[in-house]
Amino acid sequence: MNLKLLFFCLVFAVLLIQSKAKRKHGHRGSSSRPDKREMREKKRMRFEDILADIFFAETVDDEDEDDDQGNSDWIFDLQDPDGQCNPNPCLNNGVCKEKGRRNFKCDCPKPFRGRKCEKGPKACRRGRCGRGECVLTSSPPYYECKCKEPFQPPDCRRVSLCEPNPCKNGGQCIREGNDFDCQCPEGFRGRFCHVGPDDCYVDDGETYRGLVSETEDGFECLYWNSHFILEKGADPFSSFEDKDGLGPHNFCRNPDGEQMPWCFYRRGRRLLWDYCDVTPCPEPTNVVPTDFVIPDPPPTSAKPSTAQPTTVTTQTTQVPPTDVTSTGVAEPQQFLTCGVPQPKKSFARIFGGLKVSPGGIPWQVSIQEKPKNSLLPYRHICGGVLVSSCWVLTAAHCIEKNKALQVVAGSLSLDKVEPTAQTIEVENSIVHENYRDTSEAVFNDIALLRLKGNDGFCANETQFVKTACLPDVKLSDGMECTISGWGATESSDYGSNHLLEADVLLINQEKCSEPKIYGSVLDNSMFCAGYLQGGVDSCQGDSGGPLTCKQNSTSVVYGLVSWGDKCGAKNKPGVYTRVTEFRNWIKSKMQASP
Ligand code: ARG
Repeated sequence: MNLKLLFFCLVFAVLLIQSKAKRKHGHRGSSSRPDKREMREKKRMRFEDILADIFFAETVDDEDEDDDQGNSDWIFDLQDPDGQCNPNPCLNNGVCKEKGRRNFKCDCPKPFRGRKCEKGPKACRRGRCGRGECVLTSSPPYYECKCKEPFQPPDCRRVSLCEPNPCKNGGQCIREGNDFDCQCPEGFRGRFCHVGPDDCYVDDGETYRGLVSETEDGFECLYWNSHFILEKGADPFSSFEDKDGLGPHNFCRNPDGEQMPWCFYRRGRRLLWDYCDVTPCPEPTNVVPTDFVIPDPPPTSAKPSTAQPTTVTTQTTQVPPTDVTSTGVAEPQQFLTCGVPQPKKSFARIFGGLKVSPGGIPWQVSIQEKPKNSLLPYRHICGGVLVSSCWVLTAAHCIEKNKALQVVAGSLSLDKVEPTAQTIEVENSIVHENYRDTSEAVFNDIALLRLKGNDGFCANETQFVKTACLPDVKLSDGMECTISGWGATESSDYGSNHLLEADVLLINQEKCSEPKIYGSVLDNSMFCAGYLQGGVDSCQGDSGGPLTCKQNSTSVVYGLVSWGDKCGAKNKPGVYTRVTEFRNWIKSKMQASP
């Protein structure tokens, strides 16, 4: 019996190794380093990925309406007995009712439903579209299934490879085991050869009506009328100003003044967005007729307007004038209010692990270092939190002796200089006296950076640069808070160029000290936040950055990213410096050198 089992396992392991080896070979070119496009191939949902996708696994044949509950039940057990309905957890005007001492129930106005009234109309019942996306339509039966190839309509449960041929424009469908690839004729690209040679966008791509339906990283775009988008609380058709380009399709568009066309995509049950793999159209100067009289070149000091990257142009037009006075001198009444970000535009796309919109997290700074007295460029090492014009809070483990430090505030991107950015040198850093980094845990992981400035003015308050408030009370377990940073993501170990944010839950200290989680290493200088089932988490490069929670609509910096066992792993949530424990320390250090 046992031998049989062993034999079975061996055969299975051999099959698995073979299939993995085959995939690796199949997708690599002759050079040893895959180029960007080859890397993208990996993100494509192959047959196995579709089978393994928890989105389908959770929904197939499951007509039960309430989801996600099993996963997060622990959190409701841990909540404080009071305040389940305060703040109101029910979305879409749902009315919250206390249920027992530790739970709540939302009464949802029609047609909303779900534990927190987060779900829209019912046409797309769970599992209705098998391994496909359910999109909403305006005529009966009010939904349509968009199958993931090679799954076939009508209900995306039957598999058929290359029949009918999914490749467009004469593309040839090549079978590869359970999968297929489209071999496109010259000039055509995209998974289905559906993107033609003239497919390009001008300026910020507002007028783009092309057929690209993949993100920069190769993720397949969701249909704009996908029921999944609506279920997550966003409705592209009602929230964007420029809806002309949107429709029942999954092509990239720019309905909201972004830098270039973008789209929503999905990872597991998370809704994300990203810019698309679109090509800018060639400059019109290439088509100047030969008899055209070329004017004198402009004086060398003037910048030709075409040299201006479109990103900068769009940004300057998007950005209303800042609060800096005409003399450029900071006003004394700056930073009077903490913890209030730039009001989000109605169409902000903020869901787990999403790109932050301008001014969304104005207290987040990037801490950058270089060897002292060197000409090397500064590079990002950690996040930090602006708590006053001249003070940044960060993790002690971010501070290395003999390094020159600077902070960049007001910037979302690490790889380009944004007009909203303020780069400020660090005068000195104060590491907590009891900071200790052991192989088990990092204790008292907190430091303050004093910025260089004049008369107590260092950072300038603008729409993009604001302070977070210091916390004064302990908050309830289970509360949803926000983490942000440029650190490593599931798709890049090097981190993200654009600031990302995600929501995490505060985890009860006893729960987090269970043997299968972190055991007895946690002390009062730290706490856990995240999801015990894994997934959303901070990671390398996020350290020192904020975990903020809303208290009466004001963001307080409740934690600083500190450490964790791997990232996003099951039962290994992120560990954060417990800022409430250091309130007096922070105040005393800041007062000592105002
Ligand atoms: N120590 C890391 C850093 O320096 C942060 C790690 C956070 N890890 C986690 N799983 N949350 O950036």
